[in-house]
Amino acid sequence: MEVVPLASVEEVARLGADVVEAAVRGGAGVLGLATGSTPLPTYRELIGRHLDGIGPSYDGVRCFTLDEYVGLPAGHPESYRATIARELTDPLGIPADRVHGPDPDPAGLPTAGERYEAALRAAGGVDVQVLGIGSDGHLAFNEPGSSLASLTRLKTLTEETRRDNARFFGSLDEVPRHVLTQGLGTILRSRHLLLLATGPGKAAALAAAVEGPLTASCPASVLQLHPHVTVLCDPSAAAGLERRDHYREVYAAKPAWQGL
Ligand code: F6R
Repeated sequence: MEVVPLASVEEVARLGADVVEAAVRGGAGVLGLATGSTPLPTYRELIGRHLDGIGPSYDGVRCFTLDEYVGLPAGHPESYRATIARELTDPLGIPADRVHGPDPDPAGLPTAGERYEAALRAAGGVDVQVLGIGSDGHLAFNEPGSSLASLTRLKTLTEETRRDNARFFGSLDEVPRHVLTQGLGTILRSRHLLLLATGPGKAAALAAAVEGPLTASCPASVLQLHPHVTVLCDPSAAAGLERRDHYREVYAAKPAWQGL
């Protein structure tokens, strides 16, 4: 795992965008996209470069979201399908038929996980997966206790996550209890994992994920099993990392040919 402590949220966004663009330029055809607040500066950076005409071509790129709320009316602005279209894929000119998410239609819930796994496989798997981390250590919506080998399925959000996400809704009561989420085993199949962490609310979870034991009690610790993980964090999110000086040294001395 490569942990890169950076000076600001803006630097996280610039480097995050560099990683995604380098992959697309290198032929990556499948992007995995997180929603939530953390990736938004990176998404805005990608959009800005695209509009300035200096980004890569997204022709042919397909996108898969990590997760989706269950129980929202179709087209709800806080559904992750609507959110990712608004915040990234529409501005990048990626058409809706190339943007996929788990299907929350109540009638199909028992098979929604399997169908999403099949769609991911049919697309050839995710080249770069953008990730955020929950304040309770969740990855996608795999809450503490999730199987480290899990695949896409229905999950129940913790109260902590529902409270964290209430800011997107009118009130806590409006935050769905159920979600469909890629499993931790699904995420591990992506070829490159790009975890973005910013803000003091992520410091404890990030330290547990990166430097704590591998445990289902901190789902993001599963990243320790993946051969290619890049963690970009700002100073407040990095505050709990015991080895952060070492991570800085490693990054500063990184050979230019190596990339992220
Ligand atoms: C979103 C997702 C979640 C978020 C996490 C952090 O698709 O899967 O795991 O990444 O809840 O959310 P923010 O970035 O809003 O703090």
